[in-house]
Amino acid sequence: MTYTTLNAAAYLHHIELQSSNPARLAQFYGDAMQMQVRKVGDVFICQGPQRRLIVSQGEDKKLALGAFACRDADSLDALRTRAAREGLTPQHVVSHLMDTAFAVTDPDGNMIHFGLAKADPAGLTGIRGPTQHLTLATHDPEAIEAFYCGKLGFATSDRVRKPSGEVATIFTRSNHEHHTLACFRSDRVGVDHHSYEAGDWNAIRDWCDHLATQDIQLMWGPGRHGPGNNLFIFIVDPDGNWIEISAELEIIHDRPVKEWPHAERTLNLWGKAILRS
Ligand SMILES: [Fe+2]
Repeated sequence: MTYTTLNAAAYLHHIELQSSNPARLAQFYGDAMQMQVRKVGDVFICQGPQRRLIVSQGEDKKLALGAFACRDADSLDALRTRAAREGLTPQHVVSHLMDTAFAVTDPDGNMIHFGLAKADPAGLTGIRGPTQHLTLATHDPEAIEAFYCGKLGFATSDRVRKPSGEVATIFTRSNHEHHTLACFRSDRVGVDHHSYEAGDWNAIRDWCDHLATQDIQLMWGPGRHGPGNNLFIFIVDPDGNWIEISAELEIIHDRPVKEWPHAERTLNLWGKAILRS
């Protein structure tokens, strides 16, 4: 099944990660990703210009939730109605960073919020890099695609397929950006990585120079992905979560789904790849 029609209108607003040492993890994002860190109740809220991450006490590398912001109240209402019609029983939730939010749970048990973004605090500064996409690790990419596209109105952009025909990776979008949610076939379930979109090559350079001042080495890249055509670097946080900083991500107005071979060159046109499955 391929889902080509985009019916959602949302962007990745923030994610929440659990950590056995949330103070340390939050401080890492403060330093590495140029975010202000504040403790609110039991959680740490990290915010930079157009980027946000929450850290809560729990299991290392566990995704507590992914949160998408709808562009207006009408599109949020339409999405809630659609979710209810599809039998997802959307639950009202109180969110630190969004208003009138509801939660649904995907086939892997990942909690996903949709809501309206609260205003970011004034005075956030730093290199460009809005929160942009969440990539899941899953046993069943097609079930993830059926949930986000079939039930919530995301559209499929690209697929990576093994010679056997088995799907390895699926990229889906909830707006004009090539992917806002993707998934890799994996022997584990949860988050593969999350990404910030820096916009252009010079901003990637600026991020690399900034990371050097923090003594943080790149774990992968710079490179360019095939699907999405985006430039990328990857770093890893102290819990082992992978963070991507990307640029030049493809903008899609309307085009057929592209199929890619499961090969090193698909994941990195320029050099070595980290194949997940
Ligand atoms: Fe990515």
